[in-house]
Amino acid sequence: MILDRQSRINTGELKARLKAVNFDDGRFPAEEITEFVDLMQVYEGAMYEISTKLEILDSEFQVRFAHDPIHHMERRLKSVNSILGKLERKGLPLKVNSIRDNLFDVAGVRVICNYRDDVYSVSNYLSAQSDISVLRVKDYIKNPKQNGYRSLHVIYAVPVFLSSGAHYTPVEVQFRTIAMDYWASLEHALRYKTDLPDSRLSEHSQTLLDCARSLQNIETQMQNIHRDINGAPQVGEA
Ligand code: GTP
Ligand code: MG
Repeated sequence: MILDRQSRINTGELKARLKAVNFDDGRFPAEEITEFVDLMQVYEGAMYEISTKLEILDSEFQVRFAHDPIHHMERRLKSVNSILGKLERKGLPLKVNSIRDNLFDVAGVRVICNYRDDVYSVSNYLSAQSDISVLRVKDYIKNPKQNGYRSLHVIYAVPVFLSSGAHYTPVEVQFRTIAMDYWASLEHALRYKTDLPDSRLSEHSQTLLDCARSLQNIETQMQNIHRDINGAPQVGEA
């Protein structure tokens, strides 16, 4: 199952949004609007290419091993406002070239797996595919963030074939388990909850850190049961 976090790109609407940004404060050069819209269409293509590859891997696992490694996927393109906001935060010029050269998360796919083993097997099989390349890996499962966040982030470069030929386009893929996703959703909600007093926010952050550790333990125990049922070695065994 794939959840689209927004509808397909509508060129007219995107142009209207860019124009609105432009009229408001003249931040984005009007002459680059068409190029921006074209670029977003390429990012959309790259996002579909990656999610199709993942669906094919998932169905192969179902057929061969009667196991679904992927619970579900979510995908989204960064909104115009987030793209421009990120360029501004990084002190980069608001131009199409700066998006192309500096932003690697315009196209994003989140892959939610049942178990940690699935996270690594799906990501390894995808990374080994000969038509795509791995640009960057951040493994927050092996090295969780201080707040307790865990996920495996991989940026892929994917060829998107247009009438003009192949355009290698980055897609950020976040692989995580259901438990990691459950945790990250609440932590994300807390991050944007600015109207709580600081003392409550830090109390909740501490509780979330404890929850992250508990979830990690539960996950290991459940992973071990799953491995035992399937005759695989236990976590921690050679
Ligand atoms: P930015 O994209 O500018 O954040 O930098 P980056 O690409 O180097 O960041 P990173 O790969 O560490 O994280 C990118 C994405 O992962 C974020 O946009 C979030 O979706 C997710 N993420 C990273 N850290 C956290 C976290 O602490 N909590 C939650 N809920 N999500 C996180
Ligand atoms: Mg990012």
